[in-house]
Amino acid sequence: MTKMMKSLLAGTALTALSASVVLADGAELEVTHWWTSGGEAIAVGKLADAWQAAGNTWIDGAIAGSGGTARPIIISRILGGDPMAATQLNHGRQAEELIEAGLLLDLTEVAEANNWAEIINPSSLLEACTLDGRIYCAPLNIHSAQWMWLSHGAYEKAGLDVPANWNDFVASAPALQEAGIVPLAMGQQGWQQNIAFGTITIAIAGVDNWLAVNRDKNIDVATGPEYTAVFEAVAAARALAADSNVQDWNLATNMVITDTAGAQIMGDWAQGEFQVAGEVAGTDYSCLPGLGLNAVLDTGGDAFYFPVIDDDATRAAQLEMAAMLVSPEVQVDFNLAKGSLPVRGDIDLSSANACMQKGLEILASGNGILPSGDMNLSADTQTQVEDLMAEFWSSDMSAADAQAAYVSIISRAD
Ligand code: GAL
Repeated sequence: MTKMMKSLLAGTALTALSASVVLADGAELEVTHWWTSGGEAIAVGKLADAWQAAGNTWIDGAIAGSGGTARPIIISRILGGDPMAATQLNHGRQAEELIEAGLLLDLTEVAEANNWAEIINPSSLLEACTLDGRIYCAPLNIHSAQWMWLSHGAYEKAGLDVPANWNDFVASAPALQEAGIVPLAMGQQGWQQNIAFGTITIAIAGVDNWLAVNRDKNIDVATGPEYTAVFEAVAAARALAADSNVQDWNLATNMVITDTAGAQIMGDWAQGEFQVAGEVAGTDYSCLPGLGLNAVLDTGGDAFYFPVIDDDATRAAQLEMAAMLVSPEVQVDFNLAKGSLPVRGDIDLSSANACMQKGLEILASGNGILPSGDMNLSADTQTQVEDLMAEFWSSDMSAADAQAAYVSIISRAD
């Protein structure tokens, strides 16, 4: 447990009283999340609608900014005895310490009653919710990070075909620049730059080398020539994003939507923004999983956790919400709006757009399905890599210095 958590816990009554109210005619639960972009707000509205349709009240606790801003707020509220009734986190290791401290509700009974062990696909999603055989989260969706989104309008202006992969994209950059277009849109935040780093790694060094470093913490591979090529490619990407001056990821997506940038490397939640803007996959924009070089997807995404609250009726309502999130109706409505893939394989998503279909195909093939960064690395290690990326992308740090700093982080990772 981190020092911060220990000191916060020391002053905390572990059985927090509820910030939620259960009324005779339904439950009122506060739900925190960081879904505040246009597309995200529509998607979370689907969850609220379903909860309210069942006679309950959804108190929306949206936290502006990225997950990096929201997570410490969420975690310190839980540690500080002021828990929300339900919260988004990424499934993976983010909640590990909260579970160990006994602060999150055990959902095993709801998981068993709804047969999650059979229906959650891939099973790694449920494993990421499980500690010592007990289940502590409801997986909601699969969001993968390894995508490049390309503007057809930008390429039309530059008189070029839309690239089919990362190498074509890099070759196209001078023509984009001549046409006054920023080749690569990039929000100036470490988590976004880290997504680009991870995605470029898989495309350039390949899945096995990525797994060797991220999953197995293999220092020889992290120091080796394949990773040197990765850091050089990331330095080249940095140059292509030099004129991208936005912060938030959705503002970078907006550069692609408005054809002021050629492309963005971002998770598939970007689809929600294209959808809200009325853009059509395959016509107005294209998507390249694995940068068109290695079609993979990681099984990151979102899961809901329910803090322990000392009130039986609230607890019953929390279990009801957990079951609702995995239900077929919510899985269809939410994921179509969010651009994410469902956590169950038994539902019909044939109305999904061309990009979501690519994701569904990779998932169905069973090949190229990877654990997410949050599954491989502890929250502390993730933050260290994101901080390194923030420094690298905002300075002229050399590729070699960045690689050395990265090797040092991985050598200390748990
Ligand atoms: C991720 C989350 C997505 C999306 C994205 C940007 O962590 O899994 O659902 O919200 O952040 O906000």
